[in-house]
Amino acid sequence: MTQSFTIGSLVELDHIARDFARALRNPLRVYLSGHIGAGKTALTASVLGALGYPGVVKSPTFTFIEIYPLPVFAVYHLDLYRLKQPEELEVLGVRDYLEGEGICFVEWPERGGKELPPADIDVTINAADDIRIIDMSSQSNQGEEVLKRLGRLMHEGRL
Ligand SMILES: Nc1ncnc2c1ncn2[C@@H]1O[C@H](COP(=O)(O)OP(=O)(O)OP(=O)(O)O)[C@@H](O)[C@H]1O
Ligand SMILES: [Mg+2]
Repeated sequence: MTQSFTIGSLVELDHIARDFARALRNPLRVYLSGHIGAGKTALTASVLGALGYPGVVKSPTFTFIEIYPLPVFAVYHLDLYRLKQPEELEVLGVRDYLEGEGICFVEWPERGGKELPPADIDVTINAADDIRIIDMSSQSNQGEEVLKRLGRLMHEGRL
């Protein structure tokens, strides 16, 4: 199933992130696509904030991965932009994170090619002028469950 949101500000992003944080299930792989500056890191940071992480979320462009060991589960934030070839994932030792428990947000998943396990939810962000269109599409039963819950929460919020 799919869910689409059109947002005009980081405040609106926080609203979606709050419901997404309530809807998510462990484990979950969320792959984020969209051009440079589309808002992939901002979405991840917003969800981490909603999950109670109090610190600053740094873009893992140069470290490839940042790990957030939250009380209930870990969140792994990966950015594969600088990956030269998919096989490098092995060297980075991130496979256990991608395949185990926890919530993974992966920016530039296309750089990981077939070395990446399939996503539960694919997110595509399109930025145009001052708005962002966020399209979420489930790729597994787990992902579908999360998007259903997200849809219900967003609907309740509007009543
Ligand atoms: N929904 C939004 N509304 C308004 N501003 C946003 C939104 N999402 C992101 N921004 C702003 O756009 C800028 C770039 O966002 P961000 O770093 O999240 O992009 P990115 O997709 O992660 O890019 P990269 O591919 O370089 O990692 C930031 O300054 C951020 O605050
Ligand atoms: Mg980013």
